[in-house]
Amino acid sequence: MHIVKVNLGDRSYDIEIGTSLGQAGEQLRGLDLGKKIALVTNPTVKKLYGQRVVDALKAAGFLVMSIEIPDGEQHKTLDWANSIYTALLINGFDRKSALVALGGGVIGDLTGFGAATYMRGIPFIQIPTTLLAMVDSSVGGKTGVNHPMGKNMIGAFYQPMKVLMDLSVLKTLPKEELLAGLAEVIKYGVIADEALFAYLDKNRESILALDPDALTHIIRRSCEIKADVVSKDERESGLRAILNFGHTVGHAVENAENYTMRHGYAVAIGMVYASRLAYRTGLCDASVPERVERLIKAYGLPVNLAALSRKPSVTELMDTMQIDKKAEGGKVKFILPKKIGEVVITKEWEEGALREVLEK
Ligand SMILES: NC(=O)c1ccc[n+]([C@@H]2O[C@H](COP(=O)([O-])OP(=O)(O)OC[C@H]3O[C@@H](n4cnc5c(N)ncnc54)[C@H](O)[C@@H]3O)[C@@H](O)[C@H]2O)c1
Ligand SMILES: [Zn+2]
Repeated sequence: MHIVKVNLGDRSYDIEIGTSLGQAGEQLRGLDLGKKIALVTNPTVKKLYGQRVVDALKAAGFLVMSIEIPDGEQHKTLDWANSIYTALLINGFDRKSALVALGGGVIGDLTGFGAATYMRGIPFIQIPTTLLAMVDSSVGGKTGVNHPMGKNMIGAFYQPMKVLMDLSVLKTLPKEELLAGLAEVIKYGVIADEALFAYLDKNRESILALDPDALTHIIRRSCEIKADVVSKDERESGLRAILNFGHTVGHAVENAENYTMRHGYAVAIGMVYASRLAYRTGLCDASVPERVERLIKAYGLPVNLAALSRKPSVTELMDTMQIDKKAEGGKVKFILPKKIGEVVITKEWEEGALREVLEK
């Protein structure tokens, strides 16, 4: 088992990579928790892993209640957060009672928000079951729900007390979900670690075959990089923005597809265009966009706008980017690579260059 520490003063916590679901009870026993735990999950994950976690928690002496949220992003809402509050109130949960999220990013974000707000904050534990949740959403403390007018518009920064990852759960994850998570792993390579990028290139077959050592390596490095960034800038006043590499164009792509394309796929496309913009801006040499595109393609992820169900106009994409919530002082900040393993946050890019890159 590998432990990655997230250093945030008295809110520091461990990410345990390579534990087993059956040990969840023992791992939580060491924390300062009351007796009551509510396990929040969805029917898909519950059927596969719910009982194992419930049994483990009960064996460790906890009183366990399950809360089921229907599967899907459309249920990451205040209404479903409210259903969590109601279940907790009916069952007499107090400030020491804990919420455990068992699922992907949707369950993690919703449960975390519930934990942040129920009685002004109760203990929260994440057991992520998608690759995306393992490398991204379960680390860093962003929790929240969607509003009809925008994704993730209601939320709180709220850190879990622990994150437990049993990598064997990835065996049941649909391939597209795995790839969506891998796009974020590739992102970590580009923004912070050329060796990770090279590892992803060299070990593609073992990664896609879910070899435990290969998975452990890429998940550990991803968590270390995100934990490092978050511990330096928890609330995104600066550095944390580098995690948005590929996300500016990515969001415009998701928007153009009415959010039917997986986030990771849109980010994959966004990373290729951002890398090209970096080259076009003179920040990096031509090998950077080439390598980024080649690796993304090798994993079977989309690399350009041709992957969309319809061709959006460049103006439409640019319009969406301007209203992107990261727009500050009138000009969008781009995260652009200087080389594989290093990016800059910059407003120094030309609109014409972006247009050209998107048109090509
Ligand atoms: N908080 C953050 O910092 C952060 C970062 C990135 C993304 N997010 C959020 O994460 C969400 C996306 O998360 P996601 O990609 O995990 O999607 P998801 O939670 O919808 O899970 C994807 C699908 O996989 C299923 N599933 C989960 N684990 C499984 C398993 N082990 N085997 C089989 N099926 C399984 C789920 O039921 C679901 O149908 C979005 O809402 C996004 O906004 C949050
Ligand atoms: Zn992302």
